[in-house]
Amino acid sequence: MFARRVMVVGTGYVGLTTGACLASLGHEVVCADIDTAKVERLRRGVVDIVEPGLSELVSEQTSAGRLSFVVGNSAALASFEEGRSPEVVFLCVPTPMGAGGVADLRAVESVMEEVGASLAPGTVVVNKSTVPVGTAERTAEMLERADIGVVSNPEFLREGSAVKDFLGPDRIVVGSDNQDAAERVAALYARLGAPTVLTDAASAELMKYAANCFLAMKLSYVNAMAELCERVGADIADVTEGIGYDRRIGQAFLSPGPGWGGSCLPKDTHALLQVADAADFEFRLLRATIDTNTRQRQRIVDKVRLAVTGKRTGSLSRVRLCLLGLTFKAGTDDLRDSPALAIAALLRQAGAELVGFDPAFVDGPEALKFRDGEPAPSEVEGVPLAADAVSAAQGAEAVLVLTEWAQFRSLDWSVMAAAMKRPIVVDTRNVVDPATLRRAGLTAVGLGRRSDPSDN
Ligand code: UDX
Repeated sequence: MFARRVMVVGTGYVGLTTGACLASLGHEVVCADIDTAKVERLRRGVVDIVEPGLSELVSEQTSAGRLSFVVGNSAALASFEEGRSPEVVFLCVPTPMGAGGVADLRAVESVMEEVGASLAPGTVVVNKSTVPVGTAERTAEMLERADIGVVSNPEFLREGSAVKDFLGPDRIVVGSDNQDAAERVAALYARLGAPTVLTDAASAELMKYAANCFLAMKLSYVNAMAELCERVGADIADVTEGIGYDRRIGQAFLSPGPGWGGSCLPKDTHALLQVADAADFEFRLLRATIDTNTRQRQRIVDKVRLAVTGKRTGSLSRVRLCLLGLTFKAGTDDLRDSPALAIAALLRQAGAELVGFDPAFVDGPEALKFRDGEPAPSEVEGVPLAADAVSAAQGAEAVLVLTEWAQFRSLDWSVMAAAMKRPIVVDTRNVVDPATLRRAGLTAVGLGRRSDPSDN
């Protein structure tokens, strides 16, 4: 394998993982960021992102001399020795959702303006961030350099397992209208032995959206199926187990929940809808996927209303509710587009009084992991936080489990029951064993479960 000289622009979640992992594959990597304090921290091996194995990899590769951090893109480019400029430049800059759900490409544009003219002939520019279809083409236009290949190489990293996903990928996707550039990017990953899809730029760009939207569709389908299970007296766990044995469907990504969230699925579903609209294609299936997800939040609120008041139209005014889990999924402190927070907002609108608890926002050893020892916040988007689950449950008329943290499963539910005013648990992730809840004298309400009290 040839070790390549690589420059990575942006040391966010994707950039830092890309830089550290490519260094671990033997490449010489320089990461650029405009945030001076962050670069200084990274040079000391301090990683702000909570990602298993990432800080160890950064320290290891920095010590091995394969990974370094520089402030500013021009300075990073200049840090390569004369005649040894980067062969590949990865763009890992933010592409936030702009007006009307279209990804905002200003960051990519400004990098190209800054360093485009200084790149050596034959350099390959790689878009790693999720970008709209056509970005590779636009990047090439911005560059105005026929001697530079532009490649789309989307990432498929999940929060909480990014390093593992990078180094053990299901596939590598490399798309370009310049075959030689694409092959050179694919070769960076050769050691991973992963299936590699070499395609054109537009297909690679679309593939990222196609994957995330398919995952979102799978979850909306499961959530709809769970609702149907409730109506016909079936059980979603049995249904998903049964369909999951079909290898064309698979067991993964079939857990019902309060809806999908996070930094990718909501952004990418909306962006693909925009792509479809712009191409004059009515993507009904995708629109229904998003609508089902939005509706899921209201459905959870309706479930809580019925469980607490016994009526579909009962009032939640001044009803105290305990929310367990506020992040968009377990194992992260990320609150972006968290369904738990959307549900909290709806409950507050309905007049409920909320107290939350989330293992990511407590003091103690977990705080070290998530906030580098900073004290826990006292509230999250208007939801006051308790220091532990039992304190959050004090005087609550119902406890809602909103993220699938494993610790919720092993809580002492009799102690929780003793703290609560009324014995109701609405488990929107089906994570806590309903029999355990019932033994603690609690009424368990989950999603699509045969054993639950009927909603109908
Ligand atoms: C996702 C994609 O999985 C990843 O490939 C892409 O690169 C980025 O977006 P991530 O945002 O980390 O990764 O979250 P993921 O683990 O996919 O979960 C997305 C949402 O779906 C979360 O809100 C999660 O709680 C929910 N989910 C997931 C379910 O409700 N049920 C499941 O079975 C799985």
